[in-house]
Amino acid sequence: MKILIADDELMVHEILKACCEELKYEAVCAENGQDAWEKIKEDGAIRLCIIDWMMPGIDGAELCRMIRNHCYDRYQYVILLTSKGASADIVKGLEAGADDYVVKPFNYEELKKRILIGQRIIDLEDRLLCAQEDLKKKNQKLIELNELKSDFVSIVSHELRTPLTSIKNAVSIVRGGKAGHTTEDQQKFLLMAERNIKRLTTIINDLLDLSKLEAGKMRMSFQKTDLSDCLDIALSFLKTKLTDKSIIFEKEIPANLPPLYIDPDRIVQVITNLIENAIKFVPKSGQISITANPLEGKFILISVSDTGIGIPPEELDSIFDKFHQVAKPLTRKVGGTGLGLSIVKKIIEEHQGKIRVESEMGKGSSFYFTLPQWRGKERDGFHSTALTGLKGEMR
Ligand SMILES: Nc1ncnc2c1ncn2[C@@H]1O[C@H](COP(=O)(O)OP(=O)(O)OP(=O)(O)O)[C@@H](O)[C@H]1O
Ligand SMILES: [Mg+2]
Repeated sequence: MKILIADDELMVHEILKACCEELKYEAVCAENGQDAWEKIKEDGAIRLCIIDWMMPGIDGAELCRMIRNHCYDRYQYVILLTSKGASADIVKGLEAGADDYVVKPFNYEELKKRILIGQRIIDLEDRLLCAQEDLKKKNQKLIELNELKSDFVSIVSHELRTPLTSIKNAVSIVRGGKAGHTTEDQQKFLLMAERNIKRLTTIINDLLDLSKLEAGKMRMSFQKTDLSDCLDIALSFLKTKLTDKSIIFEKEIPANLPPLYIDPDRIVQVITNLIENAIKFVPKSGQISITANPLEGKFILISVSDTGIGIPPEELDSIFDKFHQVAKPLTRKVGGTGLGLSIVKKIIEEHQGKIRVESEMGKGSSFYFTLPQWRGKERDGFHSTALTGLKGEMR
């Protein structure tokens, strides 16, 4: 490390030079601010500058400012030399970016200690810079790996879809008797195969949806839609599951609820996912309800509640993470891959909405989410609309 001495008095140069050399640093001298600035720019080894406050042309404070505004790649430690009693100058110098000051006539030993403090700060700054660079590189690597993983998931899922369709068709032909008579036992096995094909198709579709949503490649088709229409479609998919468990389903959707501005297929997916979860986690004859209410202005607040097993408080933050499932025996008995809620969250965010959950163990859970209202053909600023009027922090 070299030390720059900027002072118009040659006597001061000699004393400071001796002080630096005693500490085994090489000193570079400049007689004015301009000369000092050129040397700092040219010589990368200069890391500590001892600058006189009063210099012809560029003064000490100005030189400090120039250093702070232009020397980003390596930290320059600046010690300002001021005259005795000039406390206003000290304040100005520190404001301009000086790290420390020494009052003239200075104490030789004190100056040496201040240079050593400077060296310590420079070392710390260098270590910080190295760590920052390291972190930047690691972050970049993680971004690349994540993209690679998303591409991989997407390619594999695509490749799995084609043979799976052909297996599905083959099983369906055999089960339908088109390839000859099948016994009751064979039908049982074929039914089992069909159920698993369906399960596998759902997992592959979920993986594809999530990788598209994560990459921002999910194409959305926003249109004016009634929430009731989406709910009816979702319920038609879930009818058998609801009846099988004798679930009491209630909806409280005001007749005059304003229409939504959404991608109806995606919102059917959201509602289906949430109700499907509720069905999984309520006991037989349990209750599931859906409500919807306009929020002031631009959004509608929708809730899906159940009287199920509930979610432990410490899990509430992580259930929207992909593959996250609550590790309880009952949860594991019902199956699933833990992708549903992460897809739900991403779809809602694509609509500029938010989702959060409230739950009490043994009493049930409520998922609240917001979707934008239809506001006429012109929807200026849809993508930057801020959410207002939401009670509690939405996760
Ligand atoms: N209504 C609910 N009641 C209790 N626990 C729930 C409820 N909804 C979600 N959970 C918990 O959150 C976890 C994550 O839900 P998510 O829908 O993401 O995955 P999954 O239902 O397990 O699988 P998938 O939806 O991919 O088939 C569930 O495994 C369950 O532990
Ligand atoms: Mg689910």
